[in-house]
Amino acid sequence: MKIPFLDLFTGNGADPGRERVDLLKVGEEDPIFLEQFKALRSKLEYRMDVLGWKVIGVTSTIAGEGKTLTCAKVAVSLARTKRKAVLLVDADIRKADLSKGFGTPVHPGLTEYLLGAAAFPDVVRKSAVPGLDTVSSGTSVPAPADLLAGDGFATFIEEARKRYHIVLLDTPPILPVADTMSMRERLDGLIFVYRAGFTPLAMFKQATEDIGEKKILGVVLNGVEPKSERYYGKYYGHYYTSMKAKEVRE
Ligand SMILES: Nc1ncnc2c1ncn2[C@@H]1O[C@H](COP(=O)(O)OP(=O)(O)OP(=O)(O)O)[C@@H](O)[C@H]1O
Ligand SMILES: [Mg+2]
Repeated sequence: MKIPFLDLFTGNGADPGRERVDLLKVGEEDPIFLEQFKALRSKLEYRMDVLGWKVIGVTSTIAGEGKTLTCAKVAVSLARTKRKAVLLVDADIRKADLSKGFGTPVHPGLTEYLLGAAAFPDVVRKSAVPGLDTVSSGTSVPAPADLLAGDGFATFIEEARKRYHIVLLDTPPILPVADTMSMRERLDGLIFVYRAGFTPLAMFKQATEDIGEKKILGVVLNGVEPKSERYYGKYYGHYYTSMKAKEVRE
């Protein structure tokens, strides 16, 4: 299988952990982290333009690989260009980490729309970043995979397509639950986040085969040791020594 490599992130100076983070603030003072998301943003925009794709899910093989963080940071980075209206959707109904990380109420959100209890404009919220709107996950439901496989989700995506240039969805991992496979048909494609040294390669292969090559926009390697000779010291180090977070952000 041929999957394009999109980018790699360092551990932001710390090992990825399980603590709750403010997604708008995390990494904002780290010039390398910000620069990496700019690079990823450009590659994504380019590949999406070439393919004519605008609705993209961010997924991974197993839990805890950095999907939510990647999804949020890419969305902010895209909105900051002021060229694109971006919608960020929390489609990980079971966890709602994106909604919590943005400090937005979990409901009303996607599940209320899918159950016919709220209209599209009722579930869209403006974020603190101009050009970036969000949709929370909504109240938890007993069988998210079934709800996401229904016509409601197709309609939701059509509504989002009409109003935004780019729609990014934070989704659950592929192997543990069926939710992302249920959404697959409605999405133009998916980005795979792969956490280096954490996820067994055989599992990653299985997950990417489940999704299928044609639907994969690319893979993002996360959690690479910042000082790793292999990835950084030798090839990238020199360029990063003089960067300041404020300048990279603006
Ligand atoms: N490159 C990184 N640098 C610093 N912290 C990171 C990095 N990647 C992930 N993290 C942190 O690791 C934790 C897990 O990341 P995140 O929640 O984005 O993973 P996830 O794939 O969405 O997990 P889940 O499958 O549980 O939804 C979070 O606290 C996140 O902030
Ligand atoms: Mg997550």
